[in-house]
Amino acid sequence: MAVTIKTPQDIEKMRNAGRLAGEVLDMIGPYVKAGISTDELNTLCHNYIVNVQQAIPAPLNYKGFPKSICTSINHVVCHGIPNEKKLKDGDIINIDITVIKDGYHGDTSKMFTIGEPSVKAARLIKITRECMLLGIQQVKAGNYLGDIGAAIQEHAHQHHFSIVREYCGHGIGKIFHEEPQVLHYGKAKTGLRLEEGMIFTIEPMLNVGKKETRLLPDNWTVVTKDHSLSAQWEHTVLVTADGFEVLTKRKEETDL
Ligand code: MF3
Ligand code: CO
Ligand code: CO
Repeated sequence: MAVTIKTPQDIEKMRNAGRLAGEVLDMIGPYVKAGISTDELNTLCHNYIVNVQQAIPAPLNYKGFPKSICTSINHVVCHGIPNEKKLKDGDIINIDITVIKDGYHGDTSKMFTIGEPSVKAARLIKITRECMLLGIQQVKAGNYLGDIGAAIQEHAHQHHFSIVREYCGHGIGKIFHEEPQVLHYGKAKTGLRLEEGMIFTIEPMLNVGKKETRLLPDNWTVVTKDHSLSAQWEHTVLVTADGFEVLTKRKEETDL
C-alpha cells in the first residue's frame, strides 16, 4: 500500500482521535508516582479510554500485545508490557497511548520522571523532546522525509546521545502502522516528498549509551543492549500546505 493522502473528513476524525490520545496522557499524569505499578496505570488508562472516551485501546491484542498501553522504564526503549512491578524514585518512564475512535488512530507518548531523576536522565529526556520538536518543525508540503531524520540526528549527536535504528515513526490513519516509515536519522533532501494531507508519527528514541537494542524473550520488550537509559516522545502530525498540525498536542505543550 502506498502512502495515503487523508481527505478533510479523514482529517477531522484524526484530529478527534489524536486529541483523545493526548487526553489519556493528561489523565494519567497525576497517578505516575512512586509505588504505583504499571499494571495499575494500564487499568486506569484502559478504563478511561473504554468508559469515558468510548474508544478502543489500539495496543490490546495488536499482533498479540497483551495490554492496553506501553510502559517503558529506564533502559527499556519501547513496547514495555505493563506488569505488577512498582515505580520507584529516580525511574524514568515512557507511556505510549494509541486510541482508536470512529475507526481512526491517534498515537502519542511522553516521558515522566519519578521523584528526582539524575542529571543525565533529565538531559536525555529534554534533548529527546527537542529532537521530536525539531523533526516536527521540518514537516511541510514540499519538504522531504529525510529532512526530519537529519534534524533529529544532528541534535541528538551534538549532545552525544545515540539514536535507535530498529524502530521508526509511521504513517497512521485507519491503520495503526502504515507507510511511510519515518526514520529518526538520515540526510536532508532525500526520501519521500511530503504532501498536504499525509499523516504520520515522529517518535525518536535516544540512548545515553550505544544505539543497539535487544528484544527480550517476551517478544515485545525492547531494551538497550548496554542497559543504558533510553527516552522517547511521540506525536501524530498532519502535513499542511504551509507546515504542520500536531494532532496529539496537549494543553501543557505551549511550545508547539
Ligand atoms: N504505540 C507504538 C508506536 O508508537 C506501537 C505499540 S504496538 C504495541 O508505534 F503492540 F506494542 F502496542
Ligand atoms: Co507510533
Ligand atoms: Co506510540
